[in-house]
Amino acid sequence: MAAQRIAVIGTGYVGLTTAACFARLGHNVVGADVDEAKVAALSRAEVSLHEPALAEIVAEELRSGRLRFAHGLPGTLSEVDFVFLAVPTPTGNDGAADLTAVSTVLAQLREQISPRCVVVVKSTVPVGTVDRIVASLGRTTVVANPEFLREGHAVEDFLHPQRVVVGSADKHAARKVARLYAGTDAPVLMTSSASAELVKYASNCFLAMKLSYVNTLAELCEELGADISDVAEGMRLDQRVGSSFLTPGPGWGGSCLPKDTKALLSTSAAAEVDFPLLDATIATNARQAHRVTDKIRKAAGGALSGVHVGLLGLTFKAGTDDIRDSPALAVAELLAAEGALLTGYDPCVPTGRQVGAVRVVASPYAVAEGASVLAVLTEWPEFAELDWSRVTSAAPHPVIVDTRGLLPASKVAEAGLTLVSVGRRDRREK
Ligand code: UGA
Repeated sequence: MAAQRIAVIGTGYVGLTTAACFARLGHNVVGADVDEAKVAALSRAEVSLHEPALAEIVAEELRSGRLRFAHGLPGTLSEVDFVFLAVPTPTGNDGAADLTAVSTVLAQLREQISPRCVVVVKSTVPVGTVDRIVASLGRTTVVANPEFLREGHAVEDFLHPQRVVVGSADKHAARKVARLYAGTDAPVLMTSSASAELVKYASNCFLAMKLSYVNTLAELCEELGADISDVAEGMRLDQRVGSSFLTPGPGWGGSCLPKDTKALLSTSAAAEVDFPLLDATIATNARQAHRVTDKIRKAAGGALSGVHVGLLGLTFKAGTDDIRDSPALAVAELLAAEGALLTGYDPCVPTGRQVGAVRVVASPYAVAEGASVLAVLTEWPEFAELDWSRVTSAAPHPVIVDTRGLLPASKVAEAGLTLVSVGRRDRREK
């Protein structure tokens, strides 16, 4: 496909990855944002997101001239072939997605785009949004094109997607959007805008459901004397179950799963469809933070008031610097409410920062100093490689609670430390 002119509105991890990677695929792209300082920084190739390869691609494509950034809406909007909306759709007061940013951008761009320009909705929006945009703009060239990028793997997921989903009643416009991804060799699903919008929610909610299921199974394993890692392994071998999202943890979080589960619940309530499975998925996750807190309290000897608890990991998962809706912070909040004194370490959270009740220190060993309990809350691989004898020299010897099943049990035991795991019966716990 000949190079197309694309504007991407919003330069968060989705918008910036979309802009940079479309430039990498040969298109001419302008990334726009309302944050003037961010636009200035991006124009100097300064990328503040922790996203592998993204900064390099931004720098290369700025140099190639295929990528540039603009504050507000680009002045050249009338010349672009595609406008991608990649603005946030956070949870509103009623649990539904808040579409304020989408509406604001549409109101601004409607007079500026040319009749042939295709408006592409990348933001996660409730089913029916694209149809409403078609009606309000009075044009058919509006296409749903949900994103499936994982934070920490955004570039890899964009350039090697497992699928591209495009939905529109205007098949010509939908085909044009699908062709932009030529060079990524992904299967393309062309469908209605409603189905495309729902694929996104259906996928994220299914992943959340899988995790709530596995977190409860882990609890059951502890009671029955089974081992969740073996149980999950046995399940993974069945291709119908699939091999991923079967690792228990402190709960699922981040900027997507919590918001999308609430939004789909709100959509199904509005459609008068009962969705108890989704209700239970969300409730199970809220319960998980309490369950982890119970484990930490037990490890501390039964009470948390005045007890120093060290937290290993604060981000919502490894490989990202994102702490939005982090399960680690949900646990921290519960611990603090019971009077625990909290220090934390995370390779992606700056030292010296105060995150809620957590004072962020410079290393895992600094976290261990004086801690009665050390809790692994994010699965950063470096925590599996700690020098356990150094941890042991921190007084008093902390009990380790490993919520991610990450640590080498034998090495921790060799160092004389007590390990409390998730999903298997620990002798100390029973
Ligand atoms: C999620 C989806 O995976 C992406 O496909 C989607 O594009 C994205 O949301 C989005 O809607 O933008 P992300 O938010 O980056 O991606 O996070 P995930 O990798 O899905 O992890 C979500 C949570 O589940 C994390 O807290 C993680 O630690 C937890 N998790 C994941 C587990 O506890 N166990 C697992 O086995 C896997």
